[in-house]
Amino acid sequence: MKILITGNRKKDLCCEIVKAFEREGHVCLTISRENGYDFSENPYGLIKKIVTLADDYDCFVNLYANYFFNQSLLAHKIFCDWYDKGYLDRRIINIGSTTDRVHRGKRNLYHFEKRALRELSSSLSLQSVWDNAPLVTHLSFGTLDNRAEQNPGRKTLSLEKVAEYVIWLINQPKGIHINELSLDPLQREY
Ligand SMILES: NC(=O)c1ccc[n+]([C@@H]2O[C@H](COP(=O)([O-])OP(=O)(O)OC[C@H]3O[C@@H](n4cnc5c(N)ncnc54)[C@H](OP(=O)(O)O)[C@@H]3O)[C@@H](O)[C@H]2O)c1
Repeated sequence: MKILITGNRKKDLCCEIVKAFEREGHVCLTISRENGYDFSENPYGLIKKIVTLADDYDCFVNLYANYFFNQSLLAHKIFCDWYDKGYLDRRIINIGSTTDRVHRGKRNLYHFEKRALRELSSSLSLQSVWDNAPLVTHLSFGTLDNRAEQNPGRKTLSLEKVAEYVIWLINQPKGIHINELSLDPLQREY
């Protein structure tokens, strides 16, 4: 499969996901500031450009948590484009965060961006199941190893483990759709 990922193949979670895909024989293109895709400059123009680029890919991993709800806008635009073109076997994996499950007064935009993305994924994945629509899965998790230093004392998830779940998602039997997968590292002793 040809996979498009918003992220940098040399860093963070994207690096492990690319390694896992490539081990399985898939081909990945990653897009980030490093190769000229910067969401802080003209995000709507960039979204248009990515929708055009995505036409050539079987799977889109919506990974980079770009600000101001752009992750949701990008998922929506790619889904609609693929829907209109009748690309039923194409897959979108929206990367969320379990921080959006925490219900208390918050003003951190990231929390609401991830909640919006979860809502969108949920609705689009209903269309994946009941309509002739591309496949949409929401994958969310708690703090990863690459943010351990910023969260002292918190147990974190390994990047490799999350990458394994991404591979598990794409290897499900035809006819089974994973709508959502949500993982957290247990914080107690075990
Ligand atoms: N890490 C965690 O603890 C955690 C927990 C829960 C959920 N998540 C979710 O998991 C996903 C991946 O997180 P992550 O920690 O691996 O990395 P991330 O912070 O989302 O960054 C991924 C990549 O995005 C690129 N990037 C940064 N600013 C950019 C910009 N303005 N325009 C375009 N690309 C830009 C960077 O590469 P360049 O420098 O090349 O631009 C970076 O390597 C995100 O959706 C995040 O919300 C992460």
